[in-house]
Amino acid sequence: PPGTVLDRDGTLVIAGCSVTDLAERFGTPALIVDEAALRGRARRYADGLAARWANSRVAFASKAFPCTAVYRLLAAEGLSIDVAGGGELALALAAGVDPATLVVHGNAKTDAELALAVQAGAGLIVIDNFDDIDRLEQLVTGDRRQSVLVRVTPGIRPDTHAAVSTGQEGSKFGLTLPQARKAIARLRASDVLRLDGVHVHIGSQILDTEPFVRAVEAVADLGTFDVYNVGGGLGARYTYGDTPPSVEEYLDALVDAARRGLPRGARIMIEPGRSLVAEAGVTLYRVATVKHGEPVFVAVDGGMGDNLEVALYGQRFEATVATRVGGGDPCHLVGRHCESGDLLSVDVPLRDPRPGDLIAVPVTGAYCYSLANNYNGALRPPVVFCRDGEARAVVRRETYDDLRRRDLP
Ligand code: LLP
Repeated sequence: PPGTVLDRDGTLVIAGCSVTDLAERFGTPALIVDEAALRGRARRYADGLAARWANSRVAFASKAFPCTAVYRLLAAEGLSIDVAGGGELALALAAGVDPATLVVHGNAKTDAELALAVQAGAGLIVIDNFDDIDRLEQLVTGDRRQSVLVRVTPGIRPDTHAAVSTGQEGSKFGLTLPQARKAIARLRASDVLRLDGVHVHIGSQILDTEPFVRAVEAVADLGTFDVYNVGGGLGARYTYGDTPPSVEEYLDALVDAARRGLPRGARIMIEPGRSLVAEAGVTLYRVATVKHGEPVFVAVDGGMGDNLEVALYGQRFEATVATRVGGGDPCHLVGRHCESGDLLSVDVPLRDPRPGDLIAVPVTGAYCYSLANNYNGALRPPVVFCRDGEARAVVRRETYDDLRRRDLP
């Protein structure tokens, strides 16, 4: 991954920090984040979009990595923040994010969540259904009109896992094009809501640009607005075999489509999650045991408690012995959980793996922290930011006490 090199002994070094030192200091499993890689990616997105389309805005889809330090870092880089529901909204506010930069999503927003968003002064609330409009019209009082976008489902099915496809016909998200036209007409007549524009998000881990182009064309067809938010969805490069478009290729395709179909002065927003944070993260594990047989099982001290991507979506990850990088015989890298689906990597070449070895699984910055869980009483790992050889924990490891914190006597 970006920012990683090998030292003279063949040990992985992340942002100047040796993984051996990191594991000693913070324990395993641990999610290590290369701060410069994260900032670099944010800049490529923000500067890249601004260079192609002046009136533009990048919002971080924070569901991919919702912790205070990541909110602060990306807000400091000038990004807006997309939140899905009251929890992420409250976290972002507590992290000090400017409410005017918030984009509030949700296909089942409650009264309380909408009230929190309105009271906080959230910049944009995304209308997913007609009940959102009814509720907001009740909630919004006073002089400030609440700006909203209408989310449409354009009937586009990108080539990705069905569970992370959202723009297809029959999706639970957003409004169909005819429904969206009705919502738009209704909002244009509203005294308390201000229709700023439209929103579309077709899915995640998308590995070519063509579906994004079609999404831009679909929103262009809905009429003239101030804002066109075309969502996120660009895929990350998890394995050597993955070839997602680069950020620049993606932006080129989007903006080409925008030049053909969107009004000149309109604002383009995008909401990358995965492709912004995935490659900045590396998870470190320690090998608990090696079972020699057919196949060879290398079992580590984490697994589906800290990385559900494999079990839920069949996502493939590379992995390496962090002190003997590269090469080796194919092994099944498995977790410690009581389920056969608890795999981290199948047939991954590991060089002479032994109990006590450190294993690095790169590209774990997206959706691993947010989908982490306590299955089998596993403790969720710390998050450690590394920069120029300095490491600091920004989220601590859970303790056994945390596991019973919500239990009532
Ligand atoms: N905007 C909206 C409205 C979204 O629903 C999402 C992701 C994004 C932006 C960011 O998409 P990205 O750039 O990250 O692809 N749980 C799954 C991922 C589901 C993504 C859902 N929506 C996983 O762990 O892989």
